[in-house]
Amino acid sequence: MTISSTPEGVSVAPRHVRFDVSEELKTLWHGNDAFRTAFFNALSLQFPDGEQQFINAVRLYRDRIDDPKLKAEIRGFIGQEALHSREHQHYNDGLKARGYDVEGMDARFRKHMEWVGKLPPSRQLAGTCGAEHYTAVLANAILRNPQWMEGATPTMRELWRWHAIEETEHKAVAYDVYRACVGNDNLRRIVFLFVTYNFFKYTFLNTCSMLKTEGKLWSLRTWLGGINFLWGRPGVLRRCLPEFLAYFRRDFQPWQQDNRALLKASLADLEVRYQQAS
Ligand SMILES: [Fe+2]
Ligand SMILES: [Fe+2]
Repeated sequence: MTISSTPEGVSVAPRHVRFDVSEELKTLWHGNDAFRTAFFNALSLQFPDGEQQFINAVRLYRDRIDDPKLKAEIRGFIGQEALHSREHQHYNDGLKARGYDVEGMDARFRKHMEWVGKLPPSRQLAGTCGAEHYTAVLANAILRNPQWMEGATPTMRELWRWHAIEETEHKAVAYDVYRACVGNDNLRRIVFLFVTYNFFKYTFLNTCSMLKTEGKLWSLRTWLGGINFLWGRPGVLRRCLPEFLAYFRRDFQPWQQDNRALLKASLADLEVRYQQAS
């Protein structure tokens, strides 16, 4: 029986790429803007441990899946997340050069992820689906609105685009496993509330920590610019809000937002750049 809901024309397979962003991380790489730089760095700080937990949660159920298409996609999902985790680990190591308390921020988040790793398997998988929804919506937004990364240094822009492309490709994998093996819609939605709280909590705390190092924690100008970026114009979070909330619909399914055309265009662009680089 086919369980996979990943549509025709989308393949889930890792790309073995490396990004050297160590020099760019010595600067305020996102347009010399302290808030934007700290916000994206704060997201990156959650990826190595977060994505490892996504892999662990899906692994808890992979033996129960018979659909060969979904089995192959699980392999691809694990490969993609493992490489994201590796590249974001390098990224986060590079953040130390700017004097940020990376160890402190990592320790705080790792403690939380260790707690998540002890939850019952169904909740771990529900948490993964919720977190994957956030990454999928943000990924779509980054690909659809390249102007949001305007001013970012070139390798950083590429790294975030590569991650956004692969998050889009595998956005339904954990969800399909959940639907086949757990299927509890209320649990999925309740756990999403916890994921929401923690996602914004750690993003906020890490952003504050890095702004403090930059000497900008109490800068009204920095915060007004940041609030405008997220909630005003362009309003990164404001514009994503309806899509975040779609997860509460009973009939929610990640590919209801069919962004295959955007994915295809982004992929062509990415591959042209790889060929030029090699
Ligand atoms: Fe990822
Ligand atoms: Fe993912």
